[in-house]
Amino acid sequence: MSALMQVSGLTRRFGGLVAVNAVTLDLRVGEVHAVIGTNGAGKSTLINMLSGEIAASEGRIVLDGADITARPQARRALAGVGRSYQRTTIFPEFTVHENCRLAAQAATPRPWAIWQSARACATSGGAADAALEATGLTALATRTAGTLSHGAKRQLEVAMCLATKPRVLLLDEPLAGMGAEETERMLGLLERLKPAHAILLVEHDMDAVFRIAERITVMVNGAVIATGNPDEIRNDPQVRSAYLGEEEHA
Ligand SMILES: Nc1ncnc2c1ncn2[C@@H]1O[C@H](COP(=O)(O)OP(=O)(O)OP(=O)(O)O)[C@@H](O)[C@H]1O
Ligand SMILES: [Mg+2]
Repeated sequence: MSALMQVSGLTRRFGGLVAVNAVTLDLRVGEVHAVIGTNGAGKSTLINMLSGEIAASEGRIVLDGADITARPQARRALAGVGRSYQRTTIFPEFTVHENCRLAAQAATPRPWAIWQSARACATSGGAADAALEATGLTALATRTAGTLSHGAKRQLEVAMCLATKPRVLLLDEPLAGMGAEETERMLGLLERLKPAHAILLVEHDMDAVFRIAERITVMVNGAVIATGNPDEIRNDPQVRSAYLGEEEHA
């Protein structure tokens, strides 16, 4: 199986700080590739470069064989790169369905022309319906988004990402702040999304990461210190001393 997204030598400098240092990894449809690392390791900066929010200082991002390194975020979204954010980004005053419809519209080639085109509006409405269905949020479609539980808000953010019809999902800490039940619901969702998507999951919840990821990349100070399957990462001496410490992940 070939990679849908291939990242090589990706580097980002902020002044003298090398936030992401020559990171190489690939994302395959059918896999969750988790990126773990302590606070400030460069995980969100990596996602920001993959989504096109910030430019890379060096390196290359290839999507489905095409070099997208220089493409702006909107063009990457059109090509199938979707993301969610570490901090909640919903519109709290709008309904759940409206949030998804707005996300779908923003990802259309001419979002400003939506108001002139009933058909385009129906298309984004349909994409919103499908995203809510996929995330199990259909019953909450007419709820004001700001009134949702924390877990449902995070699910809505994944739904908003899905409404853009991505093939690559870049998820920045979707489990942060969740209780056990909400975590299970989100992990169930990611399992359902896995077969049709290449998923990059940044997450601090190690139990969840070791359960759901096919591959794990460990970052320390911007650089990758190890990549492997969960067993390889669990047993990697460098990872254990640099990151996992004495913790056991049986
Ligand atoms: N826009 C910016 N300007 C300057 N420095 C930045 C900028 N964005 C991030 N950094 C720095 O880059 C480093 C990596 O930050 P980043 O947010 O990518 O880490 P992270 O792994 O996502 O951490 P966390 O787990 O806390 O979310 C940090 O030292 C951070 O302060
Ligand atoms: Mg982060």
